[in-house]
Amino acid sequence: MGEERYLTFALGKGRLANKTLELLEQIGITCEEMKDKSSRKLIFVNEELKLRFFLAKGPDVPTYVEYGAADIGVVGRDTIIEENRNVYEVLDLGFGKCRMCVCGPASARELLQHHERIRVASKYPNIAKDYFYNKKHQTVDIIKLNGSVELGPLVELSDVIVDIVETGSTLRENGLEVLEEICPLSARMIVNPVSMQMEQERIKNLITQIRQLAEGKA
Ligand code: PRP
Repeated sequence: MGEERYLTFALGKGRLANKTLELLEQIGITCEEMKDKSSRKLIFVNEELKLRFFLAKGPDVPTYVEYGAADIGVVGRDTIIEENRNVYEVLDLGFGKCRMCVCGPASARELLQHHERIRVASKYPNIAKDYFYNKKHQTVDIIKLNGSVELGPLVELSDVIVDIVETGSTLRENGLEVLEEICPLSARMIVNPVSMQMEQERIKNLITQIRQLAEGKA
């Protein structure tokens, strides 16, 4: 065996990272250090397999991967589309399934039908812009929020929102509903284009193993 360099993974903090670690564990990739929840360490290493892992805020994962600071990333498709970075999307991991939707009170439904200039609040301004401008050809005002987007129509900041719907309970509990569906979402694996060439064998091998596992569960 030659001198292998470390392959670095950037994982979106939270549920996606935990699910990813579960998946990797099933193909024999473990990182015991990372399981210590009290640790404030940022980078975790599996010396034996020459792998490094770090946790990052979801929207930063494609940035680390584009610049090659991480070879591989795991993040939601919502973030990949919103960030639009130069990365290869190589695998649908099959978990974290949800939908990107236009939501609002039932009364806002007709505002979407007559090309009215409405206000749209979203954590995903690029996805919202692309949907309204390029797909619906409707001129709208987009208001960027950083979370709890459902508040938008409730406090009359916006007419509708563009947001992720998983179970639909946040909408239901706030008297809102799905008005239009934009696209399905799930966790994806992304790879830096240069790493894909330089570490082709290791990365392809990894993708094949994870694909088999993900497909087996689908
Ligand atoms: C996400 C999303 C919705 C909610 C959807 O928010 O923005 O608010 O989950 O899930 P549900 O359909 O199962 O109710 P998140 O919890 O990530 O927090 P945020 O509002 O701060 O973005």
